[in-house]
Order: sequence, then structure tokens, then C-alpha cells
Amino acid sequence: MNRTVVGIDVGTTKICTMVAEVRPDGRVNILGIGLTPSKGLDKGVVVNIDDAVNAISTSVEKAERLSGYRIGTAYVGIAGKHVQSLNSRGVVAISRQDHEITGTDVSRAVESAQAVAIPTQREIIHVIPRAYIVDGHENIRDPVGMSGYRLEVETHIVTGEVMAIQNLIKSVERAGVIIDDLVLQPLASGQAVLTPEDKDRGVVLVDIGGGTTDIAIFIQGGIWHSVVLPVGGNHLTNDIVVVLHTPHNTAEYLKLKYGSAIAEEPEEGEDDTIKTESFAPGEQLEVSRYYLNQIIQARSEQIVELIATEIRRSGYDGLLPAGIVLTGGSSLLPRFDELVRDMLGMPVRIGSPTGLSGLSDAVDSPPYATGVGLVKWGMTHGLRHPSGGPLPGGEVGNWRNVYDRFKGWLREFLP
Ligand SMILES: Nc1ncnc2c1ncn2[C@@H]1O[C@H](COP(=O)(O)OP(=O)(O)OP(=O)(O)O)[C@@H](O)[C@H]1O
Ligand SMILES: [Mg+2]
Repeated sequence: MNRTVVGIDVGTTKICTMVAEVRPDGRVNILGIGLTPSKGLDKGVVVNIDDAVNAISTSVEKAERLSGYRIGTAYVGIAGKHVQSLNSRGVVAISRQDHEITGTDVSRAVESAQAVAIPTQREIIHVIPRAYIVDGHENIRDPVGMSGYRLEVETHIVTGEVMAIQNLIKSVERAGVIIDDLVLQPLASGQAVLTPEDKDRGVVLVDIGGGTTDIAIFIQGGIWHSVVLPVGGNHLTNDIVVVLHTPHNTAEYLKLKYGSAIAEEPEEGEDDTIKTESFAPGEQLEVSRYYLNQIIQARSEQIVELIATEIRRSGYDGLLPAGIVLTGGSSLLPRFDELVRDMLGMPVRIGSPTGLSGLSDAVDSPPYATGVGLVKWGMTHGLRHPSGGPLPGGEVGNWRNVYDRFKGWLREFLP
């Protein structure tokens, strides 16, 4: 039987609900999407619950109508600058007499990795085992069945502020959807646009949306660093509003129609004047395209600087031969990829979700990386360990218990 999975990307500019099933050939068949402008969010975080609930409900209803599927539960993306990550190692002695490593040993090792001091106002979103070490032998991806005395696990732990997490959970649940799991947005996006080879070689995933720039660094197939920066395409638009004194809609229009991350002087004799609306009703504003793009380039450079600083801060800057994969709506800004390549001196490509069928035309572009990634995440991480326990290479759901997850699953079968 095909399994249906739902993802809800609660973004700063749009809410995107996606209903999908996984085909026997592994392709993700998109059954329905519900897209609506986001409300009640600022830089990836819920700031007005009522507005967020309305927007999420609209998006969910649209996806239900299109897919003919009643949405009971969903994987939901989380972001915001409150999110932090750290790497932690757990160690246990093998319990069985014959020293064969079991799933229980793996669970204990992962649990011991979580014994790090986490401030009371924060909670764990993910504990992702990356690699195992058996009696000092490193880089083991699946230790179950091996023999040894001592099992170590390297994990990537993602935490967020309790209140920000609760406000997101509340908004989704009030919209009538039970959360299967929260997934850090760049991890979801990575699931949609990165290949296993990218992750093996070493790659930086950068999802530039409206309010946030989400970064995840993968090396040797595992996640090593993740962070959410509170900057995005909205800053470009706001700069245009402030500098050119245009209404917000006009500024967004100018950016989408004439914007470029690299400002080019007009050729000799070329008139690059753009006529547009100003704040004063009925009054026209004239601006050169070169000037418009100087505004955009200045902020774009600042965003790339922040990305560069984060890559350096991670300490993995020398280990990323697969370079940078850009995704998210703002990666569509013309020449942004070129700017990143010039400033960072790394290979750069724009990543779109692949391996899709059904309504794939609607979602095979960068703004949908998180939504597609959420359903892919649900398909690979969901029922593999319904008990919520860890599996090698899997993720340990820890904020919601099995019973809650099952409640959500049952709800799909209610009339
Ligand atoms: N062709 C384009 N050129 C430039 N910018 C674009 C283009 N298309 C979309 N954008 C910008 O992308 C941003 C929206 O991206 P996206 O849909 O990925 O955001 P989001 O997921 O809602 O937000 P976030 O992830 O930051 O919470 C907007 O700022 C929009 O102006
Ligand atoms: Mg986004």
C-alpha cells in the first residue's frame, strides 16, 4: 500500500502544505499542494497565533481540496534564529555477554549523547546520530550486529526555545492538524535538493527564503552543522522601500522584475530608466535599473558575508568540495549564485526538488524545497521507527511520545 505523508512548510512569506505518497519505484508522487501567503510570522517565528492559525488552515484546506485527502497529521518545518545546534558524543559499554551490539546499545549510546547541559528555556528538536565508533574504529554507519566492547556515537543535536516551539505547535494544532514531528527547515530542504554524493563529499545547503537564511553542512553523509540566520529576501525588498520610497508591493515587483544581485552599469547610450509607482498616489517615480540593483547588491553581499562567516565559524570550511547548494525563493534572484561563487570561491549550484511525479511541475523549484523535503523526511524517518526509538542513521523523536504520534495516525481514519 502506498503511504501518504503530509508536510507543512510554515514559512515567513508563504505557508505550503504538501500531500504526497511514495511510489514503489521510490518517486514521490505529489497528490496536492495548498499555497497561501504567510501571516503572523516574523523571521521564521510565530508572532501572532491567530493570524498563523488562519493562514495554516487556509493552506491545509486548499491541499485537502486538491488532493481529496483528509489531513490528520503532518511533518512541520521549524526555523528561527532561536534554533541552535551542537555536536555531542555518547559512550556505552556493550551489554550482551557475547559483545554483539544490539539496537538497545545504540539507543543507550544516543541517550548518553543527550546528557549535555541544555538551559531550561530550550528543548531538543533533533538528536541525529551521524556515525558510530566501535572500540575506536571510526565512521561506522550501522553498528548493529558488530562485536565490540565499547560503542560511541557522534550526534548532531538541534535545540530551540521552548516558547517559540510551543507557539508553532499551537498554531498547527489549532488549525486541526496533529504534528508527526518537527523538522528543522534546512534539514528538510537538504532532503529535497541534495544527492547522497553531495552529502558524502561535503556540502553546504543554504535555503534563502523571505525572512531567514537556513544553513546545514553535511560531511561524510552526516549533518555536522546547522543554523538559521534572521535575514532573507524580505530585507532586499525593505531596502528598496526605504531607499526609493516606494510601497512594499512596488518594491517587491521591482525586485522580481528587474532585480539582480550584481549591478551592471548601462551600456553607453542605453536608457535603463524604470518608471514606477511612488508613495504619493498618482505620482510616477523614475529610477535607473543600475541604482535599483546597487541597492540589491549591497544587501546581497551582506547576506553572503553572513553565510561565509557561518561556514568559517563551523570550522568545516576546508572539507566542502561539493560546494554550496542554494535553494529557497531568494536563490532565484538573478546572478545571486554568481555573487556567492565570486565571494566564496566555492562551486555553487541552485537546487530544486527532484525525483517527483504527480503535480511535480508545481513544486520542482527552489521555494518548495522545504515542503518537498518535509514529505521526504516523513517517508524516510516516519514509520521506520514508530516506537520513537533510534535507528542507526535515523533521527530520534523525543518531544512527542508514541501515543501522541499514534493518535494522529488514527485520526486519519476517523469519519
Ligand atoms: N525570482 C525571484 N527573484 C528574487 N527573489 C525572489 C524570486 N522569487 C521569489 N523571491 C523571493 O523569495 C522570498 C520567498 O522565498 P521562500 O518562499 O523560500 O520563503 P519562505 O519559505 O516563505 O520564508 P522563510 O523560509 O524565510 O521563512 C521572497 O523574499 C521573494 O521575494
Ligand atoms: Mg522557507
